[in-house]
Amino acid sequence: MAKITLSIFIIVPMTGLSLATDILGVNSSISYGETLVSSNLIFELGFFTPHNSSMSYLGIWYKFSPNMIVWVANRNNPLVDRDGILTFNSVGNLVVLNQLNGVVWSSEWSGVLQNPIAQLLDTGNFVLWDNFVSSSDETYLWQSFNYSSDMLLAGMKLMLNLKTGFEQRLTTWKSMDDPSPGDYVLELNNTQGLSQYEVVQGHVNSKKNRTGQWNGVQFVGSPIVLSPPAVPVFVYTESEISFMFEVQERQLFSVAKLNYLGVLQLLVVNRSRSATWNAMIEFPSDPCDIYGRCGANAICNGSLCECVIGFMPKSPDEWTVLNFSSGCKRTIPLNCSKGEGFWEIENVKLPDQLEVMLYRSMSLDECKDKCLKNCSCTAYAISDIRGRGIGCLMWFGHLIDMRVLEEGNHVQTLYVRQSASKLDAIRDRTRRKIILVTIILSSIIGGLLLVGTALWGVTHKKRRIRTGGLEITKEDIDLPLYDFAAIESATSNFSNDNMIGFGGIGPVYKGNLQTGQLVAVKRLSKSSGQGLEEFKNEVLLIARLQHRNLVGLLGCCIEGEERILLYEYMDNKSLNYFIFDQEKSMLLTWQRRFDIVVGIARGLLYLHRDSKLQVIHRDLKASNILLDGDLNAKISDLARTKRVIGTHGYMAPEYAMDGKFSLKSDIYSFGVLLLEIVSGKRNRGFSHPSHHHNLLGHAWLLWSKGRALETMEEGLHSSFDRTQVERCIQVGLLCVQKFPEDRPAISSAIYMILNWGLVLPEPKEPGFFTERNSKYSDGASSKRDSHTQNLVTLTMLEGR
Ligand SMILES: *[C@@H]1O[C@H](CO)[C@@H](O)[C@H](O)[C@H]1NC(C)=O
Ligand SMILES: *[C@@H]1O[C@H](CO)[C@@H](O)[C@H](O)[C@H]1NC(C)=O
Ligand SMILES: *[C@@H]1O[C@H](CO)[C@@H](O)[C@H](O)[C@H]1NC(C)=O
Ligand SMILES: *[C@@H]1O[C@H](CO)[C@@H](O)[C@H](O)[C@H]1NC(C)=O
Ligand SMILES: *[C@@H]1O[C@H](CO)[C@@H](O)[C@H](O)[C@H]1NC(C)=O
Ligand SMILES: *[C@@H]1O[C@H](CO)[C@@H](O)[C@H](O)[C@H]1NC(C)=O
Ligand SMILES: *[C@@H]1O[C@H](CO)[C@@H](O)[C@H](O)[C@H]1NC(C)=O
Ligand SMILES: *[C@@H]1O[C@H](CO)[C@@H](O)[C@H](O)[C@H]1NC(C)=O
Ligand SMILES: *[C@@H]1O[C@H](CO)[C@@H](O)[C@H](O)[C@H]1NC(C)=O
Ligand SMILES: *[C@@H]1O[C@H](CO)[C@@H](O)[C@H](O)[C@H]1NC(C)=O
Repeated sequence: MAKITLSIFIIVPMTGLSLATDILGVNSSISYGETLVSSNLIFELGFFTPHNSSMSYLGIWYKFSPNMIVWVANRNNPLVDRDGILTFNSVGNLVVLNQLNGVVWSSEWSGVLQNPIAQLLDTGNFVLWDNFVSSSDETYLWQSFNYSSDMLLAGMKLMLNLKTGFEQRLTTWKSMDDPSPGDYVLELNNTQGLSQYEVVQGHVNSKKNRTGQWNGVQFVGSPIVLSPPAVPVFVYTESEISFMFEVQERQLFSVAKLNYLGVLQLLVVNRSRSATWNAMIEFPSDPCDIYGRCGANAICNGSLCECVIGFMPKSPDEWTVLNFSSGCKRTIPLNCSKGEGFWEIENVKLPDQLEVMLYRSMSLDECKDKCLKNCSCTAYAISDIRGRGIGCLMWFGHLIDMRVLEEGNHVQTLYVRQSASKLDAIRDRTRRKIILVTIILSSIIGGLLLVGTALWGVTHKKRRIRTGGLEITKEDIDLPLYDFAAIESATSNFSNDNMIGFGGIGPVYKGNLQTGQLVAVKRLSKSSGQGLEEFKNEVLLIARLQHRNLVGLLGCCIEGEERILLYEYMDNKSLNYFIFDQEKSMLLTWQRRFDIVVGIARGLLYLHRDSKLQVIHRDLKASNILLDGDLNAKISDLARTKRVIGTHGYMAPEYAMDGKFSLKSDIYSFGVLLLEIVSGKRNRGFSHPSHHHNLLGHAWLLWSKGRALETMEEGLHSSFDRTQVERCIQVGLLCVQKFPEDRPAISSAIYMILNWGLVLPEPKEPGFFTERNSKYSDGASSKRDSHTQNLVTLTMLEGR
């Protein structure tokens, strides 16, 4: 809390206007255009008018970022014009009066103040004092922090008073431009002493999204996790439960905002760098955060659901068309006979606290005993993971709303009850799985190049094992099927005028469906030689991948020899049309480029880590990054063929030379893209008067001379954040390291790009760091947008 000194009281302005001060004294007021500014110039308080509105409100915002409005007084009662004032009434309450002196808002402190003073603190808290109260005592009579809007600031508490029932929650704005209370509320759910946060929609508490329970360290799944920049603080006493976060870095400002769509975002800005807020982590962040998406007794993993081991889909038909809502049932019912035990599920968001019991001081062993002895106990877990873990949490009945979490980070293990015979079966199956995985691994190492299909086989088999009992032999495609005739007419008979590109496996047309919807139509070449089964598998695979940074598949068409895929139509074509074009590239300001980089990284993170079927893209390149109307980046061309694919200039050395691809070869391509986006130059075809290195070599040479910034596209220099650019270059170089193990995983790459206080490793020489002799100079290549290379070209590459 800010310390207040006596001296402040001396500068109480006596004449009406109170500009450039943080204090509002008695007999003074603020009208539209006048503001209070906190002593270190961080926050500002005054009247504002949202964009596109004639109403005005009293609010607090960041002085360096006036659009970041952190608090609104008269949310429920806007001023219809700009003629409001903030002042004190006769008993010393803060009031906002309209033109007719009607009260539209009041601080509602129920007493009489002799000499009221209001002050805007550097924390963003607007507080009310009485001058006559001893100033050494930080007793505010009223504070804005007790009346949160849609935002949590560092030091501001969300709380639940267990005695009075008073609750401080976040309530969304109605829309981006309308501060009146919206549809979503973030509130604490305290059941049996267990706490979790829930985003609830409307006044009916039936729909919600929830974080995990407080596990002693954090609310699992909440954007405020135990790592910089915002550190969570949770207090549980007999009278009050409260939650807030602290920021330790002085230059970093963070807010947790429940935006009007009900998404809780941690927004961070490094003030010494720029005034741009980045959303670091969001909740909900993916389909698995949708409450109860998988039904009972199932775990959400990526975009799929898996029955808890020992359970099987209640209605397999729905399950196979990816409708998971009916959940899972036991393969063998429990009857509480001898030999029952538990099977552990690691790194999971624990089930909702529907029917639960908490024993705060019990150990894990005692917990197991207790659960085993009670026939209706279906699962247990440790409630407080600090130290060696303590506290016993028991569930009775169905287990709802679980998801897989990333390993390691303060997440919990759930122990699920199993019958004796099931336990035996599981143990047996686990042994078989290990054997199977070994076989698959060795066949990959054995040099199987047709990995596109093999990979699918692996995940497919794995899934069979994991869905406990259910043998999926046939999978139906849960995707609209279109008539060939409808597509013919949508594309004017696949006319050349409608052709908008040529992807790895065939031409792409712009299509206008009868409904008026625009789509991108990808017609697979007949020469792609795909069989029906293979095509279906692919389509199923792609249809399952859903992320805002991936181009969505809308449907397909299979008729005779025709194989057609329908995708979202992207207004702005692909990234290469922008960054490599002298005029268009000027439309991509640095901030836009940065957003595109982050978008690509998020899409890749989804493919690599979060989706159920870990996907290696293998052909990331500028022409495969599509841009929608708002220039959001979406990764495209996930369709696979049997051929080794990849594009000259983007392929990692081990991939280009030996056909070995991995997550890390995608990272390499990502690094190339990053450097291309920063520099506006193609890696392939790059030329420089003073050396024969490619773009990567060029960037590395500049970086090693401390002149990294010169890599950046000229002309972008008007508006950018130097350290951000340098960081992107450094991360780009780290991604294109020669050896796969030196390249970061995509999750680290994202954190490094967003840089919250991370010290980055120093890049070494990039892969392919040898000067080309002119014979092989890529610069001579006339091929503009490089197409997929086949094995033959790759062999030539080896000859260097
Ligand atoms: C405020 O105004 C009243 C009436 O005009 C006056 O009596 C009082 O002294 C003023 N207070 C201050 C602190 O100026
Ligand atoms: C806000 O602007 C949009 C278009 O920019 C317009 O359609 C809408 O009517 C405006 N709303 C108000 C309240 O003025
Ligand atoms: C804020 O709310 C808390 C909890 O209800 C209460 O204890 C405290 O006195 C309030 N502070 C102010 C200044 O109103
Ligand atoms: C829960 O999350 C989903 C997915 O983001 C969203 O569509 C839905 O509106 C959210 N519901 C609530 C109550 O927040
Ligand atoms: C999913 O299955 C449920 C019945 O379990 C049904 O009510 C619902 O309509 C299905 N959803 C879809 C999208 O088919
Ligand atoms: C309980 O189930 C087991 C199989 O899990 C079975 O062997 C046993 O006979 C059952 N006991 C009773 C009392 O039904
Ligand atoms: C808390 O969650 C439980 C389980 O979902 C629910 O029954 C209860 O109504 C919730 N309580 C509040 C205050 O929302
Ligand atoms: C099992 O736990 C439930 C819920 O706490 C309780 O109601 C029931 O009495 C317990 N049964 C036994 C046999 O202890
Ligand atoms: C989740 O899916 C990933 C990718 O398919 C897989 O590697 C992982 O084992 C799954 N996790 C669980 C707990 O099933
Ligand atoms: C904030 O930016 C400054 C200046 O670029 C930098 O020195 C500092 O390390 C950054 N702080 C964090 C935590 O990223």
